[in-house]
Amino acid sequence: MSTTTAPRRAFDALIAERGLGFGGDYNPEQWSPEVWREDVALMQRAGVNLVTVGVFSWAMIEPIPGAREWGWLDEVLDLLHEGGIAVDLASPVASPPPWLGVRHPETLPVDRDGVRLIPGSRNQFSPASLVYREHAAAITRDLAERYADHPAVRMWHIGNEYGQVDHGDEAAREFRLWLHRRYGSIEALNDAWGTAFWSQRYAAFDEILPPRRMPYLVNPTQSLDFRRYSSDQLLECYRELRDIIRDAGATQPITTNFMGFHALTDYWSWADEVDVVSDDQYPDPASPQAPADIALVQDLMRSLGDGRSWVLMEQAISATSWREHNLPKSPLRARRDSLQAVARGADAVCYFQWRQARAGAERFHSAMLPHAGADSDVFRGVCRQGEDLKKLSSVAGTGVAAEVAILFDWSSWWAGEEPARPTERLRTMTEITRWYRELWRRGVAADVVSAASDLTGYRTILVPHSYIVTPATAEALRAAVEAGAHVVVGPFSGVADENAQVLTSRSPVLLRDLLGASSEEWGAVPDVGSPLVADERWDAGRGLSQPSASILAERLRAEGAEVLARHSSGELEGVAAITRRAVGDGAAWYVGAVVDPEMLSALLGDVLAAAGVIDAFGAPAGILPDGLEAVRRGDVLFLLNHADAPMDIAVDGSHIDLLTGDETNGSVGIAPGEVRALTERRTW
Ligand code: GAL
Repeated sequence: MSTTTAPRRAFDALIAERGLGFGGDYNPEQWSPEVWREDVALMQRAGVNLVTVGVFSWAMIEPIPGAREWGWLDEVLDLLHEGGIAVDLASPVASPPPWLGVRHPETLPVDRDGVRLIPGSRNQFSPASLVYREHAAAITRDLAERYADHPAVRMWHIGNEYGQVDHGDEAAREFRLWLHRRYGSIEALNDAWGTAFWSQRYAAFDEILPPRRMPYLVNPTQSLDFRRYSSDQLLECYRELRDIIRDAGATQPITTNFMGFHALTDYWSWADEVDVVSDDQYPDPASPQAPADIALVQDLMRSLGDGRSWVLMEQAISATSWREHNLPKSPLRARRDSLQAVARGADAVCYFQWRQARAGAERFHSAMLPHAGADSDVFRGVCRQGEDLKKLSSVAGTGVAAEVAILFDWSSWWAGEEPARPTERLRTMTEITRWYRELWRRGVAADVVSAASDLTGYRTILVPHSYIVTPATAEALRAAVEAGAHVVVGPFSGVADENAQVLTSRSPVLLRDLLGASSEEWGAVPDVGSPLVADERWDAGRGLSQPSASILAERLRAEGAEVLARHSSGELEGVAAITRRAVGDGAAWYVGAVVDPEMLSALLGDVLAAAGVIDAFGAPAGILPDGLEAVRRGDVLFLLNHADAPMDIAVDGSHIDLLTGDETNGSVGIAPGEVRALTERRTW
């Protein structure tokens, strides 16, 4: 999405015209027309200006094959338009009506065990099914032709949370075609998959099946390719419908809602296909780490859109209902969650859903208008958010400048989590999250980057765990270090090539020269851990209480790099654990073990200092008071208090809080759960 297209400009124009988007999924088909009128009036009261309509309305529009019941939708769109509420109109293809599966069982997905799923829930479609795709195309075409010019419609929303996987026969056919396009010949596939192992050699593409239930372990490259194929197949479904909507004359932006670091869809390949990135976020209020962890997701969304603003398409105003134990959120918490998204680049904040359902599987999922009605703290909180967002309209379209990049790729994640490796306890997302939290605690902004991203300009590039490193990535990291960046590589990185085949020689083979260190073996660490000792010349390492490694450690040897920490006893006694190789103004750091949180914090703090990275206040990055989140969007400094106690934070200069109008000078108080949005007070 590197160029600003006309539909993207249409999104920016919508926000410029109406202010930051605020609203949610609206499912009028669950209610009578009298309720719709009340809905619009209450939306207006709450400051709602954007709703997503029709996500699950396929059976309502097409109750029997070929029917088109538009009357109710005409009325709803007209009502919303009269009420001044913009519509993100959904092509309702996420959940086909029961008749489709009953008449055409081949449209139903088949799971890994060969079980065909049935209607009665939602999402029961196979992305590979030609019949499903014909029906989805037909209803989308008719919808788009009917409403492309409707004045209420300001955005299009395709499907819902694409993430289906099918292992059936149609998927087998599509998988083979995908493989044929990727490899060109069966010999090339056999090489890439390493099928000499266990007599897996294929004589022809039509022998290949999706990974279904097998007697024992699946070929890891087959598994990786099936994931890649599944993501591409869904993307093809999305693209097909997007093009249909465009061909019908729609000029509005088109999107589909992402799901953060979703395990089944490689959003790096999706990002260019949406006009505006949108995402669904459900941080668990029970998790103390939720604020930092969701910040990472929000930074990913901004990064997917090349730094452009994005849409928080769904979140919960209070409790979800799909966890085992669903903690409600206070209105203050819900407000803070919304403002956090704005601070990290969202130009619209929406919820699932507007009115709480009375029936169906989500009857206990919170909504902006709860069962209790408008006389409720939840709804009063919604109205307050509507007011708050109006006050922040000046941030619309602005970005978050980051000096730090964190490398993440879906293929690497997928390949790195295949079973049968030194330890299943080393998890990509756990490592990325652990490292990211150290940035968050310091108020340091980060972009998430892919192996294909341009790394120029970043002062620090973190590679917490990248199982696959290609020659191009290795070259980009080398160039970055030579240009003065500090690159930090975590354990068990650069292990494999893009076919998930292990690179032979001392590891990480392609990064060995850059790091000036390499290892000959990766090993699981016994549960008691492996004690570490920091080199006494390494300032940041001095004073650490009882440093240790867990989970996985490499038998690492310095080859030109200096050793910052070593294993101090046991099997690995004397073996290097952390190394640094200085190169001009930059350096290549290697962490050859999963080090404990205190040591990781000391290490990353040291890296940021050496790289001259500044925090949201413009100061050298250091640890902020516990629970304070600081992020600068455009020229607004957002300070969020996630702790239970009030904070008094020094902020140089005079500022105005956009949310309260308070003037601050030198310091600012933040009550628990509160948010400040400070803009410099100009005296001229
Ligand atoms: C989302 C989904 C919504 C709703 C919500 C509940 O994953 O898109 O339709 O089910 O979860 O939290």
